[in-house]
Amino acid sequence: MGLVGESGSGKSTLGMSVLNLIPNNSGHVFFNGRSVFDLDKKEMKKMRKHFQIIFQNPYASLNPRMKIGEAILEPMQVHRLHHNASSRKEKVHELLNLVGLDSDHYRRYPHEFSGGQRQRISIARTLAVEPQFIVCDECVSALDVSVQAQILNLLKELQQEFNLSYLFISHDLSVVKHVSDHIMVMNRGEIVEFSDAESIYNNPQNEYTQRLIDSIPKII
Ligand SMILES: Nc1ncnc2c1ncn2[C@@H]1O[C@H](COP(=O)(O)OP(=O)(O)O)[C@@H](O)[C@H]1O
Ligand SMILES: [Mg+2]
Repeated sequence: MGLVGESGSGKSTLGMSVLNLIPNNSGHVFFNGRSVFDLDKKEMKKMRKHFQIIFQNPYASLNPRMKIGEAILEPMQVHRLHHNASSRKEKVHELLNLVGLDSDHYRRYPHEFSGGQRQRISIARTLAVEPQFIVCDECVSALDVSVQAQILNLLKELQQEFNLSYLFISHDLSVVKHVSDHIMVMNRGEIVEFSDAESIYNNPQNEYTQRLIDSIPKII
């Protein structure tokens, strides 16, 4: 599911609200048939593992003093996944390979990597807890266009492999269209259009959606 709208329209707020990361005073979110806002603390902690979020700036979300292997391992420890330290470590090596990095990158620090590689590290860290649902909030917006495409393709491959659901947030409709089956268009805190990706793009019903499409640079 793609969520598009200009900066300040309320996309991140909706994403965090769905994950119950900010207080909600109305509405409902259902996950696997359960009402998320009605869960008690203990149940919410268990549920948390299934939801993850990937942000725009991977540098800000990685501890500069922590080796990237340890950064990927940390959430596994928090959620007590796998039997012991060595099986967790093995899992980190697997994850590094899965996102297109080398196993021997384990001992390196975040500053030794490019922006695209850092986003791969955050993706590996996100996958470490084996989530079912991931909010990607402007997760390629800070990257060069060619690197954006590589990360989007990686996200698509991982979706196939692990049967993931994404709420993919971006201000850029061309990016959202590349990964989405369905798209919601947001303007001033409201969803103004919701349809399958092709219809939104080829046959927009809302004037605001039309403006977003018109603002995409075209190759003449
Ligand atoms: N539905 C809403 N109604 C009123 N204000 C909102 C709503 N959603 C978000 N906001 C406020 O609008 C501002 C921008 O929201 P944000 O979610 O960061 O937008 P975006 O991610 O689209 O740039 C924030 O100050 C937020 O608190
Ligand atoms: Mg935002």
